[in-house]
Amino acid sequence: MALLEVNNLVTKFKTDAGDVQAVRGVSFKLEPKEALGIVGESGSGKSQMMYSIIGLLAENGVVESGDVIFDGMDISIKNFKNKRDYNDFMRKIRGNSMAMIFQDPMTFLNPVLKIETQLIEPMINHSSLSREEAKRRAIDLLKLVGIPSPEKRIKQYPFEFSGGMRQRIIIAIALANNPKLIIADEPTTALDVTIQAQVLELIEELKEKSDSAIIMITHDLGVVAKLCDRIAIMYGGKIVEIGTDKDIFYDPKHPYTEGLLKCISNPENDDEKDLTPIAGSPPDLLNPPKGCPFVDRCEKAMKVCKDYEPPVSTIKQGHQCACWLLDERAVKK
Ligand SMILES: Nc1ncnc2c1ncn2[C@@H]1O[C@H](COP(=O)(O)OP(=O)(O)O)[C@@H](O)[C@H]1O
Ligand SMILES: [Mg+2]
Repeated sequence: MALLEVNNLVTKFKTDAGDVQAVRGVSFKLEPKEALGIVGESGSGKSQMMYSIIGLLAENGVVESGDVIFDGMDISIKNFKNKRDYNDFMRKIRGNSMAMIFQDPMTFLNPVLKIETQLIEPMINHSSLSREEAKRRAIDLLKLVGIPSPEKRIKQYPFEFSGGMRQRIIIAIALANNPKLIIADEPTTALDVTIQAQVLELIEELKEKSDSAIIMITHDLGVVAKLCDRIAIMYGGKIVEIGTDKDIFYDPKHPYTEGLLKCISNPENDDEKDLTPIAGSPPDLLNPPKGCPFVDRCEKAMKVCKDYEPPVSTIKQGHQCACWLLDERAVKK
């Protein structure tokens, strides 16, 4: 059974200018222990899609439709009596079988509490560990994420750590209750390039050691290259292509995926001369295009792309892409 199954998720934000259609019918599955990358430019709906799943949408956000099944439970908001019940339930899930790592560790760490407290409280609240056992585990976790002299450093406050070390602490907190799913939203974006590579290496190492499934959200395809088993490419609030890492890197089908591949950054190589960003800007989600969201930036666009949504084509099992070029009626070059 899949660990997470999302079917046709639609999320809107109410604003004075109208509804922002941030997530426009997203579906995917995640198997236990699998690592899935969600990749797309800034504003493509990656974070809001995830927040819709884990119950962290802003006040003006509404999940209009869709189903979310996690670990055998239907956790779709529509199944709850009211928002309060839903929030209470999701808070428990997020402290226990789901964990999150965000871009800025300081939004998650409490500046006035020692690291020890922040590591131990979630364990005591969500598991049967005693305070002493939790303390020992906290030190082990800090060791695991590569914090030197953990016995001493556990008594310190967040400001006494560098950005990279803080992100390691967040990862330790995320691992504390052996979650079934870890969601990392741009976990390395705010860090220096070298630190970025180190934190990424740590996440790759943990993937091997732990039993958690991982969803890695990033604007940079390079970040998911080594880590992820499967990759979903998001554009304009939709998944436009999904497949294994090999499908995406060696057999991309969507012109947008091809464009992303041309602008991968390489932390081991500062030479960014060859990066070609995709020209143009993403669609306005207040008034999303009728047809393919990528049409205005696509070098291969045909007339049909403007007026009709591209159907999802299956290239092979597990590799899907929504592009008119794959339709059997398209003229093959
Ligand atoms: N609270 C909000 N109110 C209105 N629009 C929002 C809100 N939060 C996010 N959005 C919009 O939703 C869209 C998707 O955002 P997001 O999922 O955060 O993108 P990203 O792919 O960079 O994570 C963007 O157009 C963003 O401006
Ligand atoms: Mg985001």
